[in-house]
Amino acid sequence: MRFLVINGPNLNMLGIREKNIYGSETYEGLLSFISEVCKAEQIDVSFFQSNHEGAIVDAIQEAYGKYDGIVINPAAYTHTSVAILDALKAVMIPAVEVHISNIFEREKFRHFSYPSLVCVKSIYGKGFEGYREAILFLKDYVLENKA
Ligand code: DQA
Repeated sequence: MRFLVINGPNLNMLGIREKNIYGSETYEGLLSFISEVCKAEQIDVSFFQSNHEGAIVDAIQEAYGKYDGIVINPAAYTHTSVAILDALKAVMIPAVEVHISNIFEREKFRHFSYPSLVCVKSIYGKGFEGYREAILFLKDYVLENKA
């Protein structure tokens, strides 16, 4: 099983940015954490991070036919990007949305999520653990929905 994990803008600044919200672990730490989870689950994982909306759209399009699932934290684009929503709809690869923080306990403009309209699950407020939950959920989802 092959998964692509996509992280959006400013997530490369984990460990530096707003530690009171996102914690002190780095982006590299996040990749090691997810790699360990995927190794234990025998999932082949690739990572993509970008601060650019179009680059994320390109990465989703390029995933077509190559991946069984997508875990995506679109970061700030969660609340603005119809283009990322449309890309996820176009490829129809099962996707789980993750947010490190609880977006519903933050500013009102973070309460709406475009990708939640197409993702099979949304996980928020669980820190890095949310990515583990996403991987495990997606694995079961893909196995159950295989033709
Ligand atoms: C985030 C929440 C977003 O509102 C914010 O813009 C981010 C990170 C999270 O992981 O909690 O950059 O997606």
